[in-house]
Amino acid sequence: MLKLNEIYNEDCLDGIKKIADKSISCIICDPPYFTGMTHGYGDKAQMLDLAICKPFYKELFREFKRVMNYRATLYWFCDWRSQGFYLTAMLEENIPIRNCLVWHKGASAGNFYTYSHEMILFATNDNKFHKKGLTNVILGIPGFCQNCRLDGGKVHTSQKPLGIIEKLMRDGSEEGDTVLDCFLGSGTTAVAAINLNRRYVGFELSEKYFEIACQRLEYAANLKEQNLFERGDSEVG
Ligand SMILES: C[S@@+](CC[C@H](N)C(=O)[O-])C[C@H]1O[C@@H](n2cnc3c(N)ncnc32)[C@H](O)[C@@H]1O
Repeated sequence: MLKLNEIYNEDCLDGIKKIADKSISCIICDPPYFTGMTHGYGDKAQMLDLAICKPFYKELFREFKRVMNYRATLYWFCDWRSQGFYLTAMLEENIPIRNCLVWHKGASAGNFYTYSHEMILFATNDNKFHKKGLTNVILGIPGFCQNCRLDGGKVHTSQKPLGIIEKLMRDGSEEGDTVLDCFLGSGTTAVAAINLNRRYVGFELSEKYFEIACQRLEYAANLKEQNLFERGDSEVG
């Protein structure tokens, strides 16, 4: 079994199998949006590589169902391609999807109508959700700007601001709960867990990003000891 408050440099599909049944209260995952998803053992998949992507997610979602406890919440970042394509149906087979949240992250650069939002599927086993007054459009938390330099608050090309991850974690878990992130990147979910007094476990395949995540976690734990918190320069709060 895996230790809590640890992150692992391995394929999440291997790692999650070492997590005990019903031991997770909240899953927050921001997978690659099919532009560079890597299933371990060297397979790189693009959006239409269904032969790689479909079996990977089918098995991962089955594992989610096994590790989630009865009141667990799942937040799954996605875009219109993956969501509309097949992920929604595949997730729904295992855990009921309750809503699709839209995070309005502000202006960014791009063509064909620029992207200013991200989609987050919200799923739970339990058909009750005790948090009231939440709406499915999340405003007031800016994303990292497109040209944000990678040597400041942003250390991963697809990094999410702490603000949005902390908001989801507050909504979907309680202090002391265990939160899982299968695609840690620079470790934002684990940093949020430290800040919000949750326990965490997670996986990152890339050695480079795993090292960056370890450094961020050490820094966050040190700040926490001094009652201070990491804040990206684009973040509120
Ligand atoms: C969108 S990024 C996550 C960024 C993260 N939310 C952050 O704030 O830094 C997705 C990450 O998943 C990792 N990844 C891809 N396939 C994986 C796998 N099979 N197991 C574990 N990690 C994987 C990639 O290396 C990448 O760093």
